[in-house]
Amino acid sequence: MASDRSAVPNDLSAFWMPFTANRQFKKAPRMLVSAEGMYYKTADGREVLDGTAGLWCCNAGHSKPKIIEAVRKQVAELDYAPAFQIGHPNAFELANRLVDMAPEGMEHVFFANSGSESVDTALKIAIAYHRARGEGQRTRLIGRERDYHGVNFGGTSVCGIGIDRLFFGPLLPGTDHIRDTHMPEKNAFTRGQPEHGVERAEDMERLISLHGADTIAALIVEPMAGSTGVLFPPKGYLQRLREICTKHGILLIFDEVITGFGRLGASFAAELFGVKPDMITCAKGLTNGTIPMGAVLTTADMYDTFMTGPEHMIELFHGYTYSGNPIASAAGLATLETYREEGLFENAAALAPYWEDALHSLKGLPHVIDIRNMGLIGAIELEPIPGEPTKRAFTAFLKAFEKGLLIRTTGDIIALSPPLLITKAQPDKLFGKLRHVLTNLD
Ligand SMILES: Cc1ncc(COP(=O)(O)O)c(C=O)c1O
Repeated sequence: MASDRSAVPNDLSAFWMPFTANRQFKKAPRMLVSAEGMYYKTADGREVLDGTAGLWCCNAGHSKPKIIEAVRKQVAELDYAPAFQIGHPNAFELANRLVDMAPEGMEHVFFANSGSESVDTALKIAIAYHRARGEGQRTRLIGRERDYHGVNFGGTSVCGIGIDRLFFGPLLPGTDHIRDTHMPEKNAFTRGQPEHGVERAEDMERLISLHGADTIAALIVEPMAGSTGVLFPPKGYLQRLREICTKHGILLIFDEVITGFGRLGASFAAELFGVKPDMITCAKGLTNGTIPMGAVLTTADMYDTFMTGPEHMIELFHGYTYSGNPIASAAGLATLETYREEGLFENAAALAPYWEDALHSLKGLPHVIDIRNMGLIGAIELEPIPGEPTKRAFTAFLKAFEKGLLIRTTGDIIALSPPLLITKAQPDKLFGKLRHVLTNLD
């Protein structure tokens, strides 16, 4: 891993950084210049343990030789080819491999370039599917409070995080939200799926009574709400949502942009929880974060519904210039192979109990009001400073970075999601650093 001070530009003002406190950052930049395995290296030559797999995406760890080589080869061979009315082999191959590893029933793949685009694609497909079946009045889209579905207008409209919505006007008409499943009074310090909260699924029935089932196209939920600060589904909850949606002819979409590709110790959360959605959105771990790519997996029923009419006609008027891009597809193929060859999903499942114990050992530290976990995900909720929400966790983030640990914070919650190649020594190191940070926060 090389580090190079000269890589840091003198002027940081032009780049308007996403989801960042720009002024704070530019006064005291935190610059990463290289990465390998479980570690980043900073511009000033320090190693930083990656406690977040980048942004929940580098599941295989950093700079994997197979992925690097696949991208290098592909860019030299076929840099770009359109996917409208013409094809190239990689995209078809990747779609096949995805279907092979996806939960039973997922048989087709529509490619996008990010989680946000995957979500908007799935929402559009849902509405178009009902129309194709003669139920064009089913246009309403239901999300859930506290869920995150990216930043495009569709995803923002079904998103349930107030701060991500409230600057952007009325958003899409005809959306609504069921209640979230957070019940700290009953579920605090739960290990794995919470015992309480299955009844929150009944909130979908409330919205159905309010709007009429025959106006609703789809319900989209994250099986585990990640960006809001990690909320795991209560036992039986996702099953109940499936039952309600099936009963009323409403499509169920699982947004697995975070939970896809081994994060919970299975390929997808749908498989782990034994619930069959009609569509799954994914991105991030699909290419190990190397090249942007997203995908929507659908059932055969959904795809077949569009495959009617004259054969020379386009069936779905939707797609992106970079849908199934050759280089992203090559990165995806190499990533899926890396997961399989290195047994990374199995490693995540095997290490999860150790991870759980190490995480919960932080109980009792100052300001810690909840700890929750599943697979290789952990969350530590801190009591907010009165009148200054988010400040305590952000201070923890800054101190952790100084100590050589990358964590992610949202509100006053610390979210942890290390690369899946983590070994036992690394949780010890990670939680050792975090213990020090949390003990010395004030
Ligand atoms: C569940 C979920 N959906 C969608 C997105 C948006 O993905 P992207 O940032 O790639 O657009 C994210 C990103 O974190 C996510 O966690």
